[in-house]
Amino acid sequence: MNEYQIAARSVQHHILSRPELVKRYSWAIPDEESIRAIVGLRKPILEIGAGNGYWASLIATAGGSIECWDIEPGMHVDGGSEKLWYPVSKGGPEILGPQHRDHALMLVWPPFNTPMATDCLLQFMKAGGRSLIYVGESMGGCTGDDEFHRILGSHWEAIRHVNNPTWGGVRDRVCLYERMEDDRRQRPRGEDLP
Ligand SMILES: C[S@@+](CC[C@H](N)C(=O)[O-])C[C@H]1O[C@@H](n2cnc3c(N)ncnc32)[C@H](O)[C@@H]1O
Repeated sequence: MNEYQIAARSVQHHILSRPELVKRYSWAIPDEESIRAIVGLRKPILEIGAGNGYWASLIATAGGSIECWDIEPGMHVDGGSEKLWYPVSKGGPEILGPQHRDHALMLVWPPFNTPMATDCLLQFMKAGGRSLIYVGESMGGCTGDDEFHRILGSHWEAIRHVNNPTWGGVRDRVCLYERMEDDRRQRPRGEDLP
């Protein structure tokens, strides 16, 4: 159990609230299986929109190689995080280039209804990237925009899902994707995967 999960238990005892936990840690709740699945990809990871780097710190501790960017490092909530858990550089989708084609792109709770997740995915695809780690909700949820979910549905294939712990009323999960070959781009738009 990681620090977030221990702290999440304190919510039951009204010691901490969800906003306090999100501010200190992350919008999504990591667990051991999620981190193991991500590290198990055995690819260097580029995380964009990394907030305060909490997921990255767990991945690095578990032996993964990860670099992080955010348009405003540590400012993933109003007022900002108390600390950065891992180095997060200032930047966004524009940092992605052909030198990253063998990396995995990681997006954890990309902002709702802005083009950020779509821009990252398109830029990564343009760079030749084929591996994606997405932690968020599916089409119609509160992470990413419709275009992002459409591209995921038509050009990417889920190879693994982990049902990480979530807050009540939220249905985010950890999904590992691989880019489909061109002749397989037939998946219906935004289809939810098993
Ligand atoms: C909902 S927060 C999630 C943060 C973190 N991944 C987490 O789970 O706590 C979305 C993050 O995306 C970042 N962001 C928004 N637009 C961005 C952009 N164009 N480039 C890079 N980061 C961006 C925000 O600063 C914020 O940290």
